[in-house]
Amino acid sequence: MAHELGTADLQPTADGSLTLRSHRFGQTYGSAHGAETQARHVFVGGTGVAVQRRARVLEIGFGVGQNLRSTLVVCDRRPLDYLAYEYDPVPAEVLVQLSGGASGNGAGANHPVWQELMLAWPPPVGGELTIGVQEQRLRVRCLDVLSAELPQGWATTVYLDGFSPEANPELWSDEFLLRVAGALAPGGVLATYSAAGRVRRALVAAGLDVEKRPGPPGKREFLRAEKPVDRP
Ligand SMILES: C[S@@+](CC[C@H](N)C(=O)[O-])C[C@H]1O[C@@H](n2cnc3c(N)ncnc32)[C@H](O)[C@@H]1O
Repeated sequence: MAHELGTADLQPTADGSLTLRSHRFGQTYGSAHGAETQARHVFVGGTGVAVQRRARVLEIGFGVGQNLRSTLVVCDRRPLDYLAYEYDPVPAEVLVQLSGGASGNGAGANHPVWQELMLAWPPPVGGELTIGVQEQRLRVRCLDVLSAELPQGWATTVYLDGFSPEANPELWSDEFLLRVAGALAPGGVLATYSAAGRVRRALVAAGLDVEKRPGPPGKREFLRAEKPVDRP
């Protein structure tokens, strides 16, 4: 299915960063209260990816790459292995515009991994796009993550970033969250912007130690969930 979104669907958010409105889900990809702020606060800050020496990031829902760009800012040139799933990649011109247009002013847009990605985008349908720059690797798999095989016990960091549990419920089910928890390495940390009770309970049932943390603007709380080191 061809993606129907275009640059006309871009919209500014409260911190000045841009996001995109999805017609299909009736929601924006990033927070209207600040897309970049949310990425930094919840996903980067919540997981502590910035202080991991060799981060292995699993992202559920690559979207418009906001979380990737915010991660590239803090990881800079340190070793990074980033694996993202996205079944409906947006057009290349949308990604370019969103990350600051030709001037590349958006945070992370000048990073070599993002620059290479913009040249190679989109990932092939049913396949994987791989970018490698020195000790950094990015893979974006154009697959429905519900039926995709997830790496087991691999991720030091998980960004659980589907659309809301109401709009995109399949990414928040007990069954799927159990699979996502299985992708975490012992001691690995998952972060998600949702603090819904059923999401928290599903993460607890999946064997993770879950805590609520103060949220970014527009959100009272978000969830941080850690896999105990003694759990496979
Ligand atoms: C909130 S957006 C993600 C925003 C993104 N993390 C970012 O930083 O820009 C949710 C994304 O999940 C994707 N998605 C939803 N269900 C999916 C599924 N079953 N498999 C793969 N991707 C899915 C949507 O297409 C959308 O791009």
